[in-house]
Amino acid sequence: MNVLGIESSCDECSVAVVADGRTILAQRIASQVEFHQPYNGVVPEIASRKHTEWILPVYRETLKQANLQRHNIDAVAVSNRPGLSGSLVVGVSFAKALAFALQRPLIGVDHILAHLYAAQLETELVYPFIGLLLSGGHTIICRMDSCFEMQILGTTIDDACGEAFDKVAKFFGWGYPGGVVIDRMAAKGDHRAYRFPEPSLHKGEHRYDVSYSGLKTAVVNQLEQFRNPAYVATPDDIAASFQKAAIDMIVGRLLRAVEDTGITRVVVGGGVAANSYLRGVLAAHSQLEVVFPSPLLCTDNAAMIAGLGFQLLRRGDRDGLDLDVAARVTGFRRGYP
Ligand code: KG4
Ligand code: ZN
Repeated sequence: MNVLGIESSCDECSVAVVADGRTILAQRIASQVEFHQPYNGVVPEIASRKHTEWILPVYRETLKQANLQRHNIDAVAVSNRPGLSGSLVVGVSFAKALAFALQRPLIGVDHILAHLYAAQLETELVYPFIGLLLSGGHTIICRMDSCFEMQILGTTIDDACGEAFDKVAKFFGWGYPGGVVIDRMAAKGDHRAYRFPEPSLHKGEHRYDVSYSGLKTAVVNQLEQFRNPAYVATPDDIAASFQKAAIDMIVGRLLRAVEDTGITRVVVGGGVAANSYLRGVLAAHSQLEVVFPSPLLCTDNAAMIAGLGFQLLRRGDRDGLDLDVAARVTGFRRGYP
């Protein structure tokens, strides 16, 4: 079954065709980064307009790349939550028009669950596993019992992990997206130059939660206070020290979840999953079985939407032409193991 997936929740306009939830027949990801770069962040108004302009050509290029005709599409899956409403509406409207014209089933897909499904396009995932989703908008540690069932264990109480990278880079004028720039700079820096404070959220229901606003404030407003006096610090050193603090914080919570649940399989997803320090730190924990999608499947992409869409359709789910969008994460239990 060939599912056509559409992703337009943020600043990537992507269309893919995936066979039977596993095999990517074609995928196009048109990045809007250069249009948001001057503002050091995604401007929702620009994002939705670019999606409107690009969605049809991106769809046509994808079909061409797959060497498929319209009638070879068996169903249409679209990312409809969470994300920027104006951007989601473009993908959802296009998906509805296509499903209606082709007389094929339509299915709305949760973008968060799709990030945690992305690895399945390359590796057979075994459930249950601990999911670690780190992106520009979300920071989630969860237990996954199937590709549909997510129990949120921990999250951020303020900024998302990628957002903290973006804000720190924006403050210093290092460039956009901040995570990519900081990752690159940190490779040349020394993380011992600064020692940033860890938030003290660690009890009861906050056992797996993180907070990035304190770290961000420390880096941006109180930098000198945390410098190791033995160092004459460079921007690369600031980047390396910040990156280590940001990643160590979330890895600490993840290890807690692994220990408490006894589940040692970990699947990572989202843009920050491309971070080289994170990959190195998790690889060094030999008690963990960690799965990282390849970098292209970490960031926003339509293949993960088509893949999870197939699984939803296979269990009988369908959406009507009244399918709506939702800006926020909805419908998941928060619980404690
Ligand atoms: O998943 P994604 O493409 O879009 C959202 O759904 O948000 O994630 C984008 C985020 C941005 O905040 C970006 O700075 C961050 O992922 N990012 C990284 C790296 N590559 C992208 N953060 C740290 N290290 C990286 N290598
Ligand atoms: Zn995403």
